[in-house]
Amino acid sequence: MTLKATKTWFLRLLPVVLFFICYYCSQFYFESSGGKSPHPTLALCPNYRLQKKWENLNLNMSRKPELFLKLEDFFWKDHLSAEALPYGIKGSELLLLKVLAAISSFTMPANIESLDCRTCAVIGNGFALKNSSLGEIINKYDVVIRLNDAPVRGFEEDVGNKTTLRLFYPESASYNPGIHNDPDTLLVLVPFKQQDLRWLKEILYDEKRVQKGFWKPPPQIWLGRASQIRVLDPYFLRITARKFLQIPVQPRKQQKAVHPTTGLLAVFVALNYCDVVHVAGFGYPASRNQNQPIHYYGQQTMKSMKNSYHDLNQEAQILHRLEEQGVILYLHPHS
Ligand SMILES: *[C@@H]1O[C@H](CO)[C@@H](O)[C@H](O)[C@H]1NC(C)=O
Ligand SMILES: *[C@@H]1O[C@H](CO)[C@@H](O)[C@H](O)[C@H]1NC(C)=O
Ligand SMILES: *[C@@H]1O[C@H](CO)[C@@H](O)[C@H](O)[C@H]1NC(C)=O
Repeated sequence: MTLKATKTWFLRLLPVVLFFICYYCSQFYFESSGGKSPHPTLALCPNYRLQKKWENLNLNMSRKPELFLKLEDFFWKDHLSAEALPYGIKGSELLLLKVLAAISSFTMPANIESLDCRTCAVIGNGFALKNSSLGEIINKYDVVIRLNDAPVRGFEEDVGNKTTLRLFYPESASYNPGIHNDPDTLLVLVPFKQQDLRWLKEILYDEKRVQKGFWKPPPQIWLGRASQIRVLDPYFLRITARKFLQIPVQPRKQQKAVHPTTGLLAVFVALNYCDVVHVAGFGYPASRNQNQPIHYYGQQTMKSMKNSYHDLNQEAQILHRLEEQGVILYLHPHS
């Protein structure tokens, strides 16, 4: 071969060779980083970065990645909040101080906080998860958010077994969070009313429990560890209510109070914190069939939702809009 022909061949082969080198390097990089599993959904990140889509939602506010109330918040400002719970902390400051003093940790885990791109899965409790076999996929997200007392043990195949954040309130707390959570799951209290903070304070300080003011008796003994407890900033419920559900500041008399579901709230929290938000287990069966189960566990049917403090139709429309705008992505087909 002449020198020129060799050169031509070399130039033709070069991209192929480079491609393989890059490919093997990246494989090696992934295998060596983080031990067992590479960052599995990293490939999604450049395309799914939320910032642009967030701007398209026209909420006229920036994202707020600090999710939890902090003790320091109380020392520099006289009035943090013009509203009472569930949308602000007015009137609950002292209760909160006591609670926060006992939990003393107010951040997300450092290994998630430091990620360049955070992938999140918000797992609703919906019947759609049944037989979905999504468990393995759900476990791959950096942050898995679960709601209330949704079980994991016995349902791993469909819902996975990883839980980074669990949003709950006293009535939806399970007595031993160790059963359906990981040791490092953050148990995030969503305070809807003062009693919710009082419940946590009484448990943290082992004071006499006051049982009044709950729509369902909360656990009197609760085994959540103080280091794992967080209190969600009421900001998130307030903005979910005002900007998504258009719930007025002063609801008219006679009108039943409507609050966002923990599910919609969790989606909004994820939109603030994550770069990728995927959801599963959202949605209710068409309300014609009152006997249709609504959760992937247990026997609850549509009937039990009749008197809830939620506007399920409106929430479904909002999720639909977010999906259409590419802000969230469902992990399963849905109606
Ligand atoms: C956006 O927010 C700013 C201040 O927070 C306010 O002055 C302005 O009127 C808002 N714009 C719209 C379109 O809501
Ligand atoms: C789920 O799978 C089980 C076992 O294969 C089956 O009996 C059940 O009907 C399925 N349920 C749904 C909702 O698909
Ligand atoms: C989840 O299940 C896998 C496989 O069974 C297991 O290796 C892992 O330790 C479990 N993780 C948690 C947090 O339970």
